[in-house]
Amino acid sequence: MLSKNEWSPLKSVIVGTATKAKIPPIDKSLRCVNYAGEKNLNNIPSGNYPQVVIDKANEDLEILCNFLKKENITVYRPDNFPETNYYNYCPRDNVLVYKDKIICSPQPLRARKNEYLNLQNILKKFANNIIHLQTERKDDLYNEKCVDNQHILALTETEPAFDAANILRANDDILYLISNGGNEAGADLLQETLGTSATIHKVKGVYSFMHIDSTITFLREGLVLLNPARVKSIYDLPSFMHNWDVIWCPQPYDIGHYPGYCNASAWLNMNLLSINENLVVLEQHQHKLRDELEKYKIDCAMLPGRHQRTLGGGFHCVTLDIERKA
Ligand code: NVA
Repeated sequence: MLSKNEWSPLKSVIVGTATKAKIPPIDKSLRCVNYAGEKNLNNIPSGNYPQVVIDKANEDLEILCNFLKKENITVYRPDNFPETNYYNYCPRDNVLVYKDKIICSPQPLRARKNEYLNLQNILKKFANNIIHLQTERKDDLYNEKCVDNQHILALTETEPAFDAANILRANDDILYLISNGGNEAGADLLQETLGTSATIHKVKGVYSFMHIDSTITFLREGLVLLNPARVKSIYDLPSFMHNWDVIWCPQPYDIGHYPGYCNASAWLNMNLLSINENLVVLEQHQHKLRDELEKYKIDCAMLPGRHQRTLGGGFHCVTLDIERKA
């Protein structure tokens, strides 16, 4: 069955590719959504990622694919047609798989609006009707006052917009991070689309920048990994989690990034992929986190992800779980 949480035994998954990864020319959407934290426009790179980054990232993705295949998980890869304007490294950003639905998110970045096309041939195998949530990405969706001010979000509420990586699924409950990558109108549209099959819980005031999956990580029903630099108490999170056990993530080992290209914090160590309740894929240097997870009988496959920070995606981001066993 299609995946409806982050932890049931994984059956099939899309793994991204770094091939043709690029940073598009700067426009209002890219400036606000991706680079609100960067004051100086001159520090924002543009064009193709260095080939050495692409090659090493692809080598590491290949290692991930081989590991998954050995676990008897079916692996799909995006195609590069039409050629991407951004990248196909993080399929998690574009699509939400949930119960009987596959939903293409109303991407806030103009350059990424068609990225789902590179996944479409795979997704069609799993749902007759792929839902495309629409947005126009007009100029007034973006608020340039967000630059250098974490208290002002990049997206206004003039139309719905979100990256699917602002979402985590826990069966009937879904967390949706209100952030530079997802507005409230997007959460409301998603709730309308899912109807009574899920309750969307908006997570607000926790983390302004892109995506939820270096802040909160679901490990199984009743067990969550939290980022202590961003979440102060489980009571800052929706009430269905208040009786859950918490693992406070230890300080990450900083794997660094290619000079001039930094698209994620060192907290990407939390961005793990769950194979099942007792096995996750973790970046190979994160020994302190492994020790914490082992206390809860969660084994860790320690795999390389040398350019995770450069390209802005750990093992959760670079995958999209399609089927998990019930
Ligand atoms: N923007 C997040 C990464 C999300 C995968 C961070 O830098 O921590």
